[in-house]
Amino acid sequence: MPSETTLPFTFNIVPSLESILDKYDNHIARNLSAMKGQYQDRAAYEAKLTEDDPVLYEVYEVSRPPVAGELLMGISIVRPGKVGNEYYMTKGHFHTVLETSEMYYCLRGAGFMVMETPEGDWAVEALKPGTVLYVPPRWAHRSVNTGDQENLVTFFTYPGNAGHDYGTIERQGFRKIVMDHQGNPEIADNPRWMPADVRR
Ligand code: F6R
Ligand code: ZN
Repeated sequence: MPSETTLPFTFNIVPSLESILDKYDNHIARNLSAMKGQYQDRAAYEAKLTEDDPVLYEVYEVSRPPVAGELLMGISIVRPGKVGNEYYMTKGHFHTVLETSEMYYCLRGAGFMVMETPEGDWAVEALKPGTVLYVPPRWAHRSVNTGDQENLVTFFTYPGNAGHDYGTIERQGFRKIVMDHQGNPEIADNPRWMPADVRR
């Protein structure tokens, strides 16, 4: 497996609607039930969950040893859909080692990367096929699919030692949210967001 070798290796992004990898050793699928507390419209979230627990996004990853100097790579596929007026999105996280970065390359679909720092700075960047996004050290990140029907597919790479801190975002979400406003994506303030020093 690529994760075990110390020799150079290749893999391919299979051009299809899914754009999955022809080699991977980690597959994550996250369902609606994994997003408790993240969507603004709690009633819409609960109502949807009583009907079904759909997969909102999947990750196919080529793992590497969890050490500085290594790079993990993979594909993230966020499905189209909404909870209330809020688009399907990833959980989002800070890297446990805050001073690590990440690179995303958008292959398919349309959406945004919502980002913020522990100091409260924020940024929201549009993603479309061909967009390369650099997420600098310290910036938490969440992908949002604003497409009606298409998956949002991105290729990413980040340092092997980065780790994932989901807890901070699970508690208070991101400072900005992306909502469907009369058929168009709109970036709005998250009414539940509080600065990091208030959270603790
Ligand atoms: C890795 C990274 C991406 C995400 C993926 C799923 O550091 O940022 O591979 O892991 O887009 O999102 P999360 O991890 O937030 O569920
Ligand atoms: Zn990351």
